[in-house]
Amino acid sequence: MSSDLPPPDLLAALARMGLLRPGAPVPPARRLTGGVSSDIWRLDLPSGPICVKRALARLRVAADWEAPVERNRYEARWMQAAAAARPGAAPRLLGQDESSGALAMEFLPETDYPLWKEQLHAGHAAPAFAAAVGAAIAAIHAATAAAPATAARFPTDAIFHAIRLEPYLLATARAHPDRAEVLRRIAATTAATRRALVHGDVSPKNILAGPRGPVFLDAECAWWGDPAFDLAFCLNHLLLKCLWTPAATAGFLACFDALAAAYRAGIDWEPAAALEARAAPLLAGLFLARVDGKSPVEYITAEADKDRVRRVARALLAAPPDRLAIVRDAWAESL
Ligand SMILES: Nc1ncnc2c1ncn2[C@@H]1O[C@H](COP(=O)(O)OP(=O)(O)O)[C@@H](O)[C@H]1O
Ligand SMILES: [Mg+2]
Repeated sequence: MSSDLPPPDLLAALARMGLLRPGAPVPPARRLTGGVSSDIWRLDLPSGPICVKRALARLRVAADWEAPVERNRYEARWMQAAAAARPGAAPRLLGQDESSGALAMEFLPETDYPLWKEQLHAGHAAPAFAAAVGAAIAAIHAATAAAPATAARFPTDAIFHAIRLEPYLLATARAHPDRAEVLRRIAATTAATRRALVHGDVSPKNILAGPRGPVFLDAECAWWGDPAFDLAFCLNHLLLKCLWTPAATAGFLACFDALAAAYRAGIDWEPAAALEARAAPLLAGLFLARVDGKSPVEYITAEADKDRVRRVARALLAAPPDRLAIVRDAWAESL
């Protein structure tokens, strides 16, 4: 492994976590790429490799998108709650240091834990894996919904508003004044629904396809709120992937169906139809947001593709759907 020099404050954080003896030789280290909101390192300790993630005050996606570094604390807490609900669903947490906004976790090598996003981009769309993603998210939602005291560990309304509701739904409302009212209503419903522990960034770029099932990374947006958000957020990516790798469209739609069905089967904290009636309009809003919000997906660049998303999403928002299949079918028919 080629070695980079980790910053001294990161080493100090590891010492505070009890993972590095003060004064011990600097371990071989490599900066990992791929993230936009954190510094991420692999460090090879005598006991084996670990992964250290430190939150940055400013996200690399947009100059005006700031996020408090305390989110690292909630990411660590999400990892603990997820592991308790669904062993293996998150990397094992090894430590967290409040003062630097850093956490340490087990290192999951790419060879055994490829990124789902890369598999999807290559057109490898496996409904069985998508179903496992849906089942795992539902299991985490179900376990935490059954333990409402968990809410007190996630006082993150302000962070969730700043890094999810504002840049996606409310920014999109500003870009589409004639859909602003419905987008604001969707955001308000999401903000007001408090049922379970939400990951907040269930995107294929944050899901590793591990040998024993999906492993979720990057829970910086963890929030006690509406589980429909995670479902809609992830399904949105499966719709968008149809524009990235059009040849695999049928596979992506099959993944959409498999994920939605497996998730639905795991809903035990409220009527499934009620959750779906929140998830479907949210999906339509997030779909438009990935073109006209503050965090557009990087692979939709052609104006014709953007317009296709706008046409479908705007029509859906004019008469908000109450079932996910309505969104999926409207998109499938447009392709
Ligand atoms: N525990 C881990 N083991 C191995 N690689 C990891 C681990 N955590 C993160 N990574 C790598 O770092 C990338 C970014 O991590 P992520 O937590 O998503 O950070 P960001 O918030 O910056 O997006 C991942 O896509 C993955 O490649
Ligand atoms: Mg990430």
